[in-house]
Formats: sequence, C-alpha cells, structure tokens
Amino acid sequence: MDIKVRNKKIDEKEFLKERQEVLSMWPTGREVDLEEAIEYHKRLPDHKNFMKVAERLHREGKTVVFPRAGTPILEQEIELVRTLYETGLPLIPVTPDSYCRLCKFDKAKQGLEESIKTGKPKLNGFPTVIHGVKNTRKVVESTEAALNQRMTNLDNRLMGEIAFAAGITAGLQDPFQDFGCFEKNSTMEQNIRMAQYIFRLVGYYAERGAIITIDFDGMLPHEVFPLSVDIAGVIAEALLAAEQGVKSIIPRSFLMGHIGQDIAWVRLTRRLVREYLDKFGYRETATPATFVDMIPLFPFPQDMGWSFGFLNYSAMVAAMAEAEGVAIRTIDEGAGIPTKEAHAVSHRSANWIFNVVRQQRINFQLEEISVEERIAEMEIRALLDKIFEVGDGDAAVGLQRAFDLGFMDTPLASNIHIQGKVLGVRDLKGACRYLDFGNLPIPKEAKEFHQEKVAERERVQGKKLDYHTVVEELWSFSKGRLL
Ligand code: 5AD
Repeated sequence: MDIKVRNKKIDEKEFLKERQEVLSMWPTGREVDLEEAIEYHKRLPDHKNFMKVAERLHREGKTVVFPRAGTPILEQEIELVRTLYETGLPLIPVTPDSYCRLCKFDKAKQGLEESIKTGKPKLNGFPTVIHGVKNTRKVVESTEAALNQRMTNLDNRLMGEIAFAAGITAGLQDPFQDFGCFEKNSTMEQNIRMAQYIFRLVGYYAERGAIITIDFDGMLPHEVFPLSVDIAGVIAEALLAAEQGVKSIIPRSFLMGHIGQDIAWVRLTRRLVREYLDKFGYRETATPATFVDMIPLFPFPQDMGWSFGFLNYSAMVAAMAEAEGVAIRTIDEGAGIPTKEAHAVSHRSANWIFNVVRQQRINFQLEEISVEERIAEMEIRALLDKIFEVGDGDAAVGLQRAFDLGFMDTPLASNIHIQGKVLGVRDLKGACRYLDFGNLPIPKEAKEFHQEKVAERERVQGKKLDYHTVVEELWSFSKGRLL
C-alpha cells in the first residue's frame, strides 16, 4: 500500500489554504478570527488554561475528576459547567454530540432546534460547530474552569477551529483512538492526516504564545487485554503531535481492574511518553500531567451500589497512581446523558476518596506493580521498535504499516482495517493476559510470563480458556466480580 502521510510539519502555506476549505464547511466557520482568538487566549487567567491547571495539580499532588459532560442547549450547558465547577472540578470537558463528530451538521442543527423547542436534550452532547464561536465563548466566559473540547472520529478540523477560537484551551485529539475505537472504515493514515491539521492549528497558536493542550485517550481495548499496544500507540502519536508544534501533551492510560497493572501502566505512560519525546528532540513539548480513565466500555453495573463501587475503584487507583486527572462514569451511565445531579453525586463520591487517599501521598511499592511494569515496558519498547522499523523511522508510516501487518492489533476490533487476531483474558488474580498473541512482536520472556499465568488458571479451573471466557469476562464488572 502506498502510504502518503509523513511525520513532518505541514507547510504553513499549505495549512492556511486547507483552513479556508475547513472554515467553509459550515456557516459558523466564518466566525473564526485566529488573530483575535490568540489575543483572547493570552489574556486568559492561569486557572482557565488547561496546561497551567494541570501543572498546578501536579505541583500540589492532587487528583481531580475530569469527567465526560456535554448537553446541547446553551443555557443548560452553562448550568452543567457551573454544577461541575461547584462540585470542585477545575478541568471541564465539552463533549460534543455524535452528529457534529461525524460532520453531519444538518442533523446536529435539527437536533439542537428540537432540543430548544422541547427544553430537553435531543443530542448526546454540545454541538460546538452549530453553536459557533460566539455562543461557545459564552460557555468559556461563564466559568472559571479550564475547558477541553473532546474531538473524536475522523474529521474534527472545523470543531477544533471553533472551539479554540472560542477560547477553549485544550482538546482531545487522538488519531489512534479514532481509528481503533470510533471509526469503522477509515484508515490509520487518514486519521493521522486529519489529526495533523488539529496539531498544526495548535502549533500555530503556540508559536504565537497561546498554549493549547492536546490530550490522548489511547485506543481502549474492547475487552480484557494488556495495555502495551495502547501505550505504544500513545507514545507514537505524541511524536506526531509534537512535530506539528504542540507544546503541551497529557497522555492517559486505562484502569482495567487489576491494581498492580493499573498503577504500572500509569507510571509507564508518564515515564515513556516523556522519554520518547526527549529522545526524538521534542524537549520543549511539556507533559504537565498524566490522566487515567475508568475501565473501558464494559457494560456498566446496573445496581446503584455497584456503580458507586466501580467509580470509586477508578478514583482510588487514580489516587494511588498519583494521576492528576481521572475520568469516571457517573452512576447513571448508559441511561442517557447524565443529569447534572448524577454528575455532582458521582464526583462528590470520588472527591471523598481523593481527600482521604491522595493526601496520604504514599509511594506505593508493591511486588505486583514492579513485575507488571517490567513486563509491560519490555512489550512497549518492542512494539515501538517494530513501528519504527516498518516505518523506516517515521512514526506516521510505522503506525499505518504496523496495523496492516498485525504488529499492532486489538481484540474484537471495530475497524475493518484492524486484523483483530489477538484475544485477552484475566489470570487467576484478575490481571489482563494475552490468550492469543496474534502477530504482536511480544518478546519471548514476556510471552512465557503470560502463557504461564493463563496455564495456571486453566489448571485451577480444569478447562481451557477460550473465546467463551472472553465473552463471559465482558460482563464480570457489571456483576460486581473480577472473573
Ligand atoms: N455526557 C456525559 N458522558 C458522555 N459520554 C459520551 N457523551 C457524553 C455526554 N454528553 C460518555 C459515555 C462513555 C464515555 C466514553 O463518554 O457514556 O462513558
């Protein structure tokens, strides 16, 4: 396959030309005034700049909930942001609706109109593109929090333009996640190219003194699976962002339910993203914080007590891992978009944990953490070596090729361009293991380690683990069990 994308800064002339096309995708694009926006960003107080807040949290040794939240009607969005801020959250996302994520702006407009007419949310988020710069800025002006525009799916170019022009100081833009979790048909290369536009835009702001943070969610596995592929991908894409001039990156890892692994993965994400940025010459790109994310999209517990248990697990492990931010699920996950009351009670519950656990500042040294950290580090380095090998040293080419060849892979893949030859299961203690390595370049020592753990569970349970085990384990957390 002929791969055109390269990890190379987009030429400014070419970028400015592309901008004109992007801004004409929807009438609100005309509201974008880049020079005014840069001046606006520079005048914002520190507590409204996402990077500065993240740095402060790091300095003060604090963990906060960084939730998912967005609702279509402007006044209700302002009210939601107010509630979140009053619950003690200094970092607040603007989660867009699915139509805007898919550039179906007509449908988003219709959904917004219906929401306004009925007074009820008829979209699953805030349609940033439809609201445009002027209205989105009203949200920015209404709060003392630092905001983050969530951007998923292939083409977020216009959404990014509008959000940043409105004064939002951060954005989720993760081509690896878009490809692996949101898109069905688009390729890694296409997702990288679209993301490079956002990175280049953020770079343009940065060159003029306005720092916008990019955060990566990573490719959450669709079932129990070790996170090495995910972390290797986040490291590779950090290089893509830095090359376009992004000066502040917040990487993230997931909590999969085994404390040893979960803490090991946060520590590795923090350490290795920094190491690779430095190694490739991007010393000026800051990594002010590391976030973690609630357990991936397993079915959410339906029982109220269990859903508090689930969210408090995330809060507890985030605090133990000294992450600065954690995304948790509200107790009404899946029942629609959360009400502001459900947000508030869920976050108060997590805050209780932070106030009690995080302030003890214990440096957890557990045998389980160090074993998992050593094995995962070996795997992540091997995966990255492979990405650079097949990409002839270019992270963009390498990511595309590695997926083509199954050197990067994920189970139960939702994108047709992912091989999906791998599978994962838990071992007896609940740690995520490979049941099938597919084509992943996992070093021999690590392979044997996983195989032994799987064999141990098979001996105790007296049966082979297989696809059926994988399916059963999709449900275990929603039933309040590990296995
Ligand atoms: N408000 C709150 N949570 C949301 N999510 C998606 N959209 C919204 C929204 N508007 C959540 C999903 C899932 C996670 C990926 O984001 O419910 O938990």
